Amino acid sequence: MCGIVGYIGDKHAIELLTCGLEKLEYRGYDSAGVAFIDENKLKIVKSKGRLNNLEEKLEVSPKHSHIGIGHTRWATHGEPSDINSHPHQNKKGNIAVVHNGIIENYLEIKEELIKKGYEFVSETDTEVIPYLIDMYYEGDLKESVIKAIKRLKGSFALGIMSLDEPDKLIAVRKDSPLIIGIGQGENFIASDIPAVIDWTREIYILENGEMAELTKDNVILMDFDGNPIEKEVYKVTWNIDEAQKGGYDHFMLKEIFEQPKVLKDTLFPRIGNDGRIRLDDIDTNSLDIENIEKIYIVACGTAYHAGLVGKKLIEKYAKIPVITDVASEFRYNNPFIDEKTLLIVVSQSGETADTLAALRLAKKKKAKTLAICNVVGSSIAREVDYILYTWAGPEIAVASTKAYTTQVVLLALLALYIADVRKTIDEDEYKKALEVLNSIPDDVEKILRSKSKLEDIASHLYKSRDIFYIGRGLDYYVAMEGSLKLKEVSYIHSEAMAAGELKHGTLALIEKDTPVIALATQDYLYDKVISNIKEVKARGAYTIAIAKEGNNEIEGVADLVIYIPDVINELAVPLAIIPLQLIAYYVAIQRGCDVDKPRNLAKSVTVE
Ligand code: F6R
Repeated sequence: MCGIVGYIGDKHAIELLTCGLEKLEYRGYDSAGVAFIDENKLKIVKSKGRLNNLEEKLEVSPKHSHIGIGHTRWATHGEPSDINSHPHQNKKGNIAVVHNGIIENYLEIKEELIKKGYEFVSETDTEVIPYLIDMYYEGDLKESVIKAIKRLKGSFALGIMSLDEPDKLIAVRKDSPLIIGIGQGENFIASDIPAVIDWTREIYILENGEMAELTKDNVILMDFDGNPIEKEVYKVTWNIDEAQKGGYDHFMLKEIFEQPKVLKDTLFPRIGNDGRIRLDDIDTNSLDIENIEKIYIVACGTAYHAGLVGKKLIEKYAKIPVITDVASEFRYNNPFIDEKTLLIVVSQSGETADTLAALRLAKKKKAKTLAICNVVGSSIAREVDYILYTWAGPEIAVASTKAYTTQVVLLALLALYIADVRKTIDEDEYKKALEVLNSIPDDVEKILRSKSKLEDIASHLYKSRDIFYIGRGLDYYVAMEGSLKLKEVSYIHSEAMAAGELKHGTLALIEKDTPVIALATQDYLYDKVISNIKEVKARGAYTIAIAKEGNNEIEGVADLVIYIPDVINELAVPLAIIPLQLIAYYVAIQRGCDVDKPRNLAKSVTVE
């Protein structure tokens, strides 16, 4: 979603701001802008579209500023346009603001300000902020910001500067992420760490209700009343290369190929030498696993698909009823939750607005809450009772790949752990599952070696109008994820169906050469899926099956078969999804799509 950067120091602010904004491009945006002080004037340059539109405009402007704020906007209030882009300023043009989030009561404030003679030029909610600061300004920027933010309801990460105090930046955080980069003789603000790690690895992660006043030599942290606070400096240990493409053409491909490593990172530290799962990251005693009566797993998109797999595994191994729900539905469904309920939220970013709201709702209803999350210090990570991190590293491509497989294996570990504590699994089954989990990273590596075959298959698919995915049991959930991956990066219409449901309507859409990708990795459902493949073939479909090695009879049925290593049914998901990720990627490439930044999508969906 929106990205914020800010700089104060001796370097050329605009260069640093645009570099920082480039690093935040993965968040998704439709316009960009910067504010800076030059020749004793506060100047604002902004542009709809990609960052290079802004950079072209900036080339004709002088660049001698040592202070500035920048923004990439993903439209919420008002269409993407130059006027609606940030930074926004007051009429006098001496205060500039960039904002990430939504001001819920902006209409009310706008009315009040209009009555006082303020004139608005944009359709945004943000514009009320520079006007409020203007209204309260009595010679101290920080004080006027404190008064202004007390009026705001909603979520807001803010970067603020003023011509009257040209040696100061103000940063504010409530419900939208913001960090401070601490430099030598320079300081930064940003929505996320990649924007600043070229210049500093020392970071303050602002919490909700915290703000900061930055000069080039100092950072004063405070609460929303201006009372000073202290924070630990977070030292970034990962390298910028990890957030770069590392030799691959696209982040999506790089991230698909990182899976063997990140699966090891997520799994192996949690499997002890004695072959038992250890969840040292959480206080499992207070989680009181024996007394959990019901589990909800709540998430969005790909994370929801991982949650569906989690449901099957927890029910199978731990024998606890699990409801998996989409966060945007769950939060309005008045779910049955009490102190014996465990709510598991799954989120790569840890910032997804609906998932966060679901978490807050469950906490209010006294459930125990646990998150499976990838971003350290994210809102979900900080608000949840118990956190298990997927160690997938930064995921830059909008389409989630490595986050999904790490979520699935972590849910498998959790299911087995709970089962072990509650003694609902016999020792042989537990050992077998762990043996398979241990080999998953190598099995994924093996599937990735068939990359060129999958690229070839994509060349048969890329001109299709529709592509269907079918499966039964866990394979149905893999089908859902494979289908989502394809549509989001290639823009081909796709549907995932429970294979047995096809004949209840969707079969009408199958005609000559319609591609149908059939998942057939669940031994107990294998024959049924074979029948479903025959069913669509009889209507002319072009069929591709994903099956386990050794199940060769499927070759006589499907037009093409992709094999994955023969593992137990419960743990086939992180293997079966790999060919589907690669098919989606190659189909998108062959259609000339911008795979890392698909249209209309954002990496982190911080609005409802
Ligand atoms: C799809 C995708 C999205 C996210 C969803 C939840 O590839 O990335 O569907 O999975 O927006 O995001 P997180 O996991 O950050 O909560």
